[in-house]
Amino acid sequence: MKSKTLEILQRDAKVIAKSMYIRFYPMAIEDGEDVTVRDADGKEYLDFLGGWSVAGTGHRHPKVVQALKKEIDKLLFNSFTSFSNETTVKLAEKLVNITPGNFSKKVWFGLTGSDANDCVFKLVPYYKKRSRFLSFVNSYHGQTMGSLSLSGHKSQSAFVGFSNVVKVPYPYCFRCPFKQEYPKCDIYCIDYIEDYVFKTYCYPEDIAGLIIEPIQSDGGDVVPPDGYMNKLVKLCKKYDITFCADEVKVALGRTGKMFAVEHWNVVPELITLGKPIASGMPLSSCVGKSEILDSKPGSHLFTLSGHPLSCAAALATIDVIENEGLVKNAEKMGQALRRRLEELKEKYEIIGDVRGRGLILGVEFVKKLETLEPASLEVAKICYRAWQLGLILGYVGMFSNVIEITPPLTINQKHVDSACEVLEQAIKDVKAGKVSNSEIDKYSGW
Ligand SMILES: Cc1ncc(COP(=O)(O)O)c(C=O)c1O
Repeated sequence: MKSKTLEILQRDAKVIAKSMYIRFYPMAIEDGEDVTVRDADGKEYLDFLGGWSVAGTGHRHPKVVQALKKEIDKLLFNSFTSFSNETTVKLAEKLVNITPGNFSKKVWFGLTGSDANDCVFKLVPYYKKRSRFLSFVNSYHGQTMGSLSLSGHKSQSAFVGFSNVVKVPYPYCFRCPFKQEYPKCDIYCIDYIEDYVFKTYCYPEDIAGLIIEPIQSDGGDVVPPDGYMNKLVKLCKKYDITFCADEVKVALGRTGKMFAVEHWNVVPELITLGKPIASGMPLSSCVGKSEILDSKPGSHLFTLSGHPLSCAAALATIDVIENEGLVKNAEKMGQALRRRLEELKEKYEIIGDVRGRGLILGVEFVKKLETLEPASLEVAKICYRAWQLGLILGYVGMFSNVIEITPPLTINQKHVDSACEVLEQAIKDVKAGKVSNSEIDKYSGW
């Protein structure tokens, strides 16, 4: 049978730059609705990746679509760099209100998460008159030169970023780089920063800011242990280091709170947002202390920043999240999903760890629990097989051995049950040798 998907992919291979994608299986998406997408041949899939966390409100939420239609009848673009526009201002007012922190705040808008992190990286050192930045091993902040410099992810290891970023270990307790055990360790990884890093190659008085993903997502959906964030903020306060949170992937309800930092009651001075903020329309934002974001007028602007269509979609997105109970649903469905995944962990030795908050969950696969040897090939095959069976997943992590689960926040128990049944079947099929190495060879993933 002639496949439209394969035909598109053959044309795609001829003209689309390989530098702009990572693929896990051969798929071309034609349309989507809520938790479901269809490929170019009309086959339906349950989308438990949600475009890497973009589809918070699901695909084409009617209220978002309606807001876009209304806006498009008024304006197709606005050069916000030189002319204001009410939709963009309204969204900024909303973000000032809902983000944590009772200080004077302003909002910067961009187009994609990377540029929001560039905003932090540019303005904090300028404002502080200090040159260095702290970030984390295995972190992912984006692909522009600034955000890749902040990142410690293997996908950027081929590129030499700016030299003013110092990276310290993230609290990845399942694979603690210090071979310690929580809580006995008393969160030694922060003492290490103060006792070693600050006393040798990076003096604290030179550090302008620190940026952290409250859940290290592309690094393997790693969740810091309780107490970590609070101790880290204390360290930042002690040395007057600006505490910045990259919530591009996890904000706006996904973790079961509007913002992930709320799990630990910490307040970032700057917070970056992206992905789900406009339900898939290009938009990013950096929200935080006015004195930092105002410090150098006209210094971080793009022609299409604060795009009125994206901002209209974002206002509708936030309205849906707030008024359709999506934060609560993320918490409830997250617990249900986690329970099912824990059951799979009991049944299959290859599952080493299940972690996450709300509807961002990571399932880490290992060959043996005693050695923690990553089961990377198996994970690539399980994702591929799940896709064949109608479930969209992706994988992340230092060793590409963590399946990331970030479905729309609109999912219900039936979706959870179907997804877990497919995932279990995929694990069984891969164990039975149903996916060959040559089938997945072309799909390098991360
Ligand atoms: C935590 C985090 N920050 C920043 C980015 C970069 O966002 P974008 O790809 O929209 O530029 C990502 C993308 O995966 C991310 O997960």
